[in-house]
Amino acid sequence: MKTAAIALALSLSAGPGLAAGIFPYTNPDAIAAGAEVYADNCASCHGADLEGEPDWRIRDEDGLLPAPPHDATGHTWHHPDTQLFMLTKYGVAEMVGGGYESNMMGFGDVLTDDEILQVLAFIKSTWPDEVIEMHNQINSQQ
Ligand code: HEC
Repeated sequence: MKTAAIALALSLSAGPGLAAGIFPYTNPDAIAAGAEVYADNCASCHGADLEGEPDWRIRDEDGLLPAPPHDATGHTWHHPDTQLFMLTKYGVAEMVGGGYESNMMGFGDVLTDDEILQVLAFIKSTWPDEVIEMHNQINSQQ
């Protein structure tokens, strides 16, 4: 299961993407499971209502960015599924590289690939229809 998700993610990033992407965001069971994963692992920083931290665009005194919202006001939906999956699994520092420092750790040791897909499905399921449509377009341009 784990390797299947990664193989799928990699094949999507290499070739023409599927618009609907790899998140099970229309599956009620996956969304419910993802909501629990979110409450347990993400809400402390990204907010119980996905609202993010105040002034999330402004770096703190250590030069680190606060947690952005995952609702439609943030830029989570600007990234295709594969990128969101990798950011969550490996963390922002690892994905940006070049010694970039970030409070967004990777969850690869905490969550299974399926749980990562579920939590991202939950997040996507909260977006308004037009944002979901734009996100599907971003996926199809991959
Ligand atoms: C310790 C606080 C913290 C926790 C817990 C946390 N995050 Fe983050 N997250 C951040 C911060 C801070 C950023 C912005 C980092 C940066 O850009 O340097 C971020 C960024 C992200 C991004 C990139 C968003 C974008 O628009 O670029 C994603 C995706 C993400 N987080 C998903 C998650 C998920 C899913 C969880 C739960 C499994 C989670 N985060 C838990 C702090 C956290």
